[in-house]
Amino acid sequence: MKNLYRLLDLTKILINEVIDYIASYFGVKKFKVDTVKDLVLKSGNKNNPQGILDTIDFFGWNKAFLMNIGDEKGLLLEKAIIEKNPKHCLELGVYLGYSSIRILRNLQEDSILTSIEASNKYYEISKEIVSHSGLNNQWNPLRGKAKNVIPSLGEKYDFVFLDHWKDEYLSDLKTMKSLELLNDKAVIFADNVVLFNMEDYLSYVRNSSFFESKFISTKREYSKTQPDGIEISTFNKDD
Ligand SMILES: C[S@@+](CC[C@H](N)C(=O)[O-])C[C@H]1O[C@@H](n2cnc3c(N)ncnc32)[C@H](O)[C@@H]1O
Repeated sequence: MKNLYRLLDLTKILINEVIDYIASYFGVKKFKVDTVKDLVLKSGNKNNPQGILDTIDFFGWNKAFLMNIGDEKGLLLEKAIIEKNPKHCLELGVYLGYSSIRILRNLQEDSILTSIEASNKYYEISKEIVSHSGLNNQWNPLRGKAKNVIPSLGEKYDFVFLDHWKDEYLSDLKTMKSLELLNDKAVIFADNVVLFNMEDYLSYVRNSSFFESKFISTKREYSKTQPDGIEISTFNKDD
């Protein structure tokens, strides 16, 4: 029964996203993400990261679904960043730059966040929004599919936020591991592992001797009822 509710929730979100996209594509309405961008840029919150997050969250709660990590899980992401205090942080999947802002505002001055986004449109919008937040000095946004960009990364990471397409979490994590892009004790923070029933990913991080993994049950972004969860895994390089 739980799985049925989850599937219905997911189907509803996907159908709404497709309808919204088609209507915007044919000029019936503005693209939802353009509406959010305009709201952010006109809201008078220049250099005010919290004001920008509030504007996006208000839209997500009251107007239409947005696939940002959202406020509840966003606070868990920030807590994990503060606990780890990473020097090099990597984010896969940027969308509007919402989670980038949540990460960036908790980084020490000598730390850097590299974020990879596949969509040209979202890449451009996120650059405007993060720039508006005033936090872009420590931000390195890259455009492209994660699997194509990862091999060109010349850094080892202490923290990785996985939030791109769900069928790519596992293969991209394995690529990072095999290319030795993960520092010892690197934290891998994976969103939406319940919403998308990510059994293959969970089975890997929970059963591999290279990872110690814990699960936190949450609601999905912008819902008070629909279940979701995050998996936080710590990499043990020498196991
Ligand atoms: C859930 S949204 C990211 C939300 C963002 N992390 C936040 O919380 O504000 C997923 C994003 O991943 C991007 N994406 C999907 N597949 C990707 C891939 N293979 N590489 C990079 N980005 C990808 C999508 O275009 C979309 O913008």
